[in-house]
Parts: sequence; structure tokens; C-alpha cells
Amino acid sequence: MLTIKNIKKTFGNKVVLKGISLNVNKGDIIGIIGPSGCGKSTLLRCINGLETSDSGEIIFNEKNIIGSKHLLDVRKKIGMVFQQFNLFNHMTVLENITLAPVMNKLMKADEAKKEALRLLKEIDLEDIANSYPNQISGGQKQRVAIIRTLIMKPEIILFDEPTSALDPEMIGEVTNLMRKLADNGMTMIIVSHELNFIKNFCTKVVFIDDGKIVEEGDSKLIFDKPKDERLKSFLEKVNNK
Ligand SMILES: Nc1ncnc2c1ncn2[C@@H]1O[C@H](COP(=O)(O)OP(=O)(O)O)[C@@H](O)[C@H]1O
Ligand SMILES: [Mg+2]
Repeated sequence: MLTIKNIKKTFGNKVVLKGISLNVNKGDIIGIIGPSGCGKSTLLRCINGLETSDSGEIIFNEKNIIGSKHLLDVRKKIGMVFQQFNLFNHMTVLENITLAPVMNKLMKADEAKKEALRLLKEIDLEDIANSYPNQISGGQKQRVAIIRTLIMKPEIILFDEPTSALDPEMIGEVTNLMRKLADNGMTMIIVSHELNFIKNFCTKVVFIDDGKIVEEGDSKLIFDKPKDERLKSFLEKVNNK
């Protein structure tokens, strides 16, 4: 459903992505790991059009979306979840969730509200519908951010370090919801330093170093039988933290 071909991205004179290619099939759960600054966030931002790549192709449902007039339509189908939640603090949980579908005229206000409440109820969060982000926990905020993405009925969700800003006891709330999405067949790309989660959850893992994919494969192989020296030393460093 998504094919990334030789994506390059430069900021000023720094080449951040040096030709990344990746194939994502429906239902894949792809983990992206790699040292800080290697280009993981930039790659996700290029995929959903928050950043434009300098060259290469991103083919989503058979259309190249780079520079395409379909970009806005495509972005509605590619959800993104951020480390810092990116909720609007002056809006309630319900208003945060219903904003995009109503603004994009995908749903009427009352319809969006009903759907938002249904999604909140599914994960026992209906009680916080009228709370503001600063009144709820980090784990609740991130689950609200995921629901805000789900209400747009995305075909794929990109997660950029979804649990990095959370206290340890809240990580499970978010990963459990991600597991539930996986059970329902959602396609996901996840950047995370929670290597155990990535190892057990992802169908495929990609290791990026210095703007390039150095190694990729079955998640067990990447963690149990790494080949490249850079991947080996990355795994050692993270595991010894
Ligand atoms: N908007 C930007 N302007 C300039 N440099 C950027 C910008 N975004 C990212 N970079 C640089 O690109 C490199 C990769 O960043 P990033 O994709 O955030 O890495 P990662 O998510 O793997 O930690 C870093 O050196 C970062 O400083
Ligand atoms: Mg990042």
C-alpha cells in the first residue's frame, strides 16, 4: 500500500536522509530504530507530508504523493502520533478529537461528537471527554491523540516515539491500545527506543544510521542475530542503559 523509493532530504547543507527505500504492505507493523539524529522523525514527516523530500517517490495506493495535488487527501489517510501528544491545550478532549473531521467536512459536528464518545468509551475514557489536556495524565493524553487520529479512519498510522514522554507505569496503557489496533489489522510504522516492545510487536524492523537503512528484516533476526557492526553496537548501548 505504501512504497518509499530513494527518499532524500537535506536541511541547509546537512544531508539527513540519504536515499531511503521501504515497502509497507497492509497490516504490516514496521519498527524503526536507530541512534538519535539519524533521521527517523524526518522520514515519518516526509511520509505524511509534514516535510517535503528533495527527491525520490512516495507511492501511496498507487499514486506518487510527492508534490501531488492529492497530498491533502492523502494526509487524512496517514495518521501521525507524536511524542509530545500535540493536543490543543485550550480545547477539551472532545473538541481535540472532533476538530479535524469537522474542519475537513468529513462529519457533521453532532456525528463527530457521537463517534468520538464511542471511541473514548471503547477504552474507558468517556469520563474525560470534557477535560482539558492539562487535567489528564500523559497516558490518557497519548490515547486521546491516538483516537484523534482514528476518527479520521486512517489506512496507516505513524508513531514517533509514542511512549518516550510517559512515566513508565503509563507506557502499558498506550502499548495495549496499539496492540488492539494491530489486532484489528491497522498498518503502522513505529519509531521507538522501547526495544522490547519493538521486538515483540513489529512484523519487521528497520535500523537506520546516518540517514540510511543499514539493516532490515524479521524483528527476531534483527535483535537476536544482528549482522552490521553499527546495529550490534547500537543494541548493546541501548541494552546497557
Ligand atoms: N527542520 C529542521 N531544520 C534543520 N535541521 C533539522 C530539521 N529537522 C531535523 N533536522 C536535523 O536532521 C537530523 C535528523 O533529525 P531527526 O529526523 O529528528 O532525527 P531522529 O528522529 O532520528 O532523532 C538532525 O541532525 C536534526 O538536527
Ligand atoms: Mg525523532
